[in-house]
Amino acid sequence: MADRTIDELCEQLLAKRKAAHDGGGKKAIEKQHEKGKLTARERIERLLDPGSFVEIDEFVEHRCTNFGLEKTKFLGDGVVTGYGTVDGRLVYVYSQDFTVLGGSLGEMHAKKICKVLDLALQNGCPVIGINDSGGARIQEAVDALSGYGSIFFRNVKASGVVPQISVIAGPCAGGAVYSPALTDFIFMVDKIGIMHITGPAVIKAVTGEDVTSEQIGGAMAHNTTSGVAQFFASNEDECFAQVRKLLSYLPGNNMEDPPCVQSGDDPMRLDMSLREAVPTNPNKGYDVRDVIRKVVDNGDFFEVQPLWARNIVTGFARVGGRVIGIIANQANHMAGCLDIDASDKASRHIRICDAYNIPIVTFEDVPGYLPGLNQEMGGIIRHGAKLLYAYSEATAPKITVVLRKAYGGSYLGMCSKDLGADVVLAWPQAEIAVMGAEGAANIIFRKEIDAAEDKAAMRAQKIEEYREAFANPYQAASRGFVDRVILPEETRGAIYQALVMCDGKRELRPKRKHGIMPH
Ligand code: HXC
Repeated sequence: MADRTIDELCEQLLAKRKAAHDGGGKKAIEKQHEKGKLTARERIERLLDPGSFVEIDEFVEHRCTNFGLEKTKFLGDGVVTGYGTVDGRLVYVYSQDFTVLGGSLGEMHAKKICKVLDLALQNGCPVIGINDSGGARIQEAVDALSGYGSIFFRNVKASGVVPQISVIAGPCAGGAVYSPALTDFIFMVDKIGIMHITGPAVIKAVTGEDVTSEQIGGAMAHNTTSGVAQFFASNEDECFAQVRKLLSYLPGNNMEDPPCVQSGDDPMRLDMSLREAVPTNPNKGYDVRDVIRKVVDNGDFFEVQPLWARNIVTGFARVGGRVIGIIANQANHMAGCLDIDASDKASRHIRICDAYNIPIVTFEDVPGYLPGLNQEMGGIIRHGAKLLYAYSEATAPKITVVLRKAYGGSYLGMCSKDLGADVVLAWPQAEIAVMGAEGAANIIFRKEIDAAEDKAAMRAQKIEEYREAFANPYQAASRGFVDRVILPEETRGAIYQALVMCDGKRELRPKRKHGIMPH
């Protein structure tokens, strides 16, 4: 060393850097591209602002000597880690490099990920993990398992403190799936992202079922059927654009407010077309996303988990530049009934919004809970309870807009005044009652209807009587359960005023270790 010049030493460093950048080598990179996948570094470049990435732990190597692994060492050990910016805001990132030992996770690979998670937590910034790995590095045995355990532990410690985002852009199998599952959002890339606990071969051996990886673990399967993933992307570029968009709604951590972005859209703008957006006939469907788009800044609504439990719509948007989290019954799908999956989807979104101080705006048009053996035996009681729990637990501002139906238990379940809604707004066609007019008339006027000569006419008359008396927002308004009955076109302005009104909201609850959410 003593007789080497600084230039020679710098050359040595540059050579090491190049070796680290080459990952598993030219052939392995070609193979990665042939599979339709970007490399770990290409992914980071596309995700972050150009030139913003700062790599750490570039020269980390494994120290395993089992099964001759000491002869196969790669600088970086199969994962690229560091930090950079998205729209100028700091984020931490790790990206598994499949070209190195199949992106498998050993002791040092895991330590690199843990360091990034620790830094993200310490410095209060989001962390994004790009997963592309054969799972636990088999040669490293229990050290690899311990590595996963350390990651899980940190994922949980950081939960609700800094946003954690997982991108699945390759295999993610066995226990490895649980790190993404412990994070806030999972993005999956079609055709290349796979997540499952046991693969097709094991399933065949144990249960005899013939399944493909795509069927049990593909992006479409987890976005439409299992509900494991929140976002589906056709390709990696689309995926990274989605991640960047999501980050634009989230604060760096739970002590910050979400980023306010002035949109140039007048917060008090009236939209007369809202009068036609929700049919007054309670049996007619419509797409609640059309209502949402008319209300929010520039019609820009970012939907979360759009393909699963479509009877409820969740997402983010802005009103007057302020971020809001949205929960809305979707009349076009199962008439907007609440069921097991809708309850799970909504309660998770509520908790995410609450954790990151995002006001929750609920658009309500709900006929009730979905009846059926499947629902009862699937545990709609415990799943539905989650929704009540999440709304009641949330201390972020809560604004409810009753668009039309608000019946029975589901009226409460969609954030009524009693669950702590700060402001409840109702449209003129709102029906806040124990049940719909037809069901109610059949029960409370049964004797009169049975005794009548013309039963149909009597039923119709009683339904009308009930509708007149209760199928409106004014009963609830007369008790103060509705703060304001508004014209549909006033909705945007009324939400904005409510957000401003809640600016100073501080709500203290009894001290406890944590509540026990229904499971
Ligand atoms: C060590 C691994 C590896 C692993 C892949 N490789 N997975 N090395 N440990 N887990 C290596 C391969 O040997 C190969 O090395 C290189 O990575 C590329 O793998 P290929 O098989 O050529 O790639 P491909 O055909 O695309 O198949 C990808 C794959 C397959 C489907 C992921 O590699 C696979 O099935 N791997 C094993 C998966 C697995 O069982 N993992 C353990 C899961 S249990 P060469 O030198 O030939 O290029 C687990 C427990 C976690 O993860 C528990 C947490 C609590």
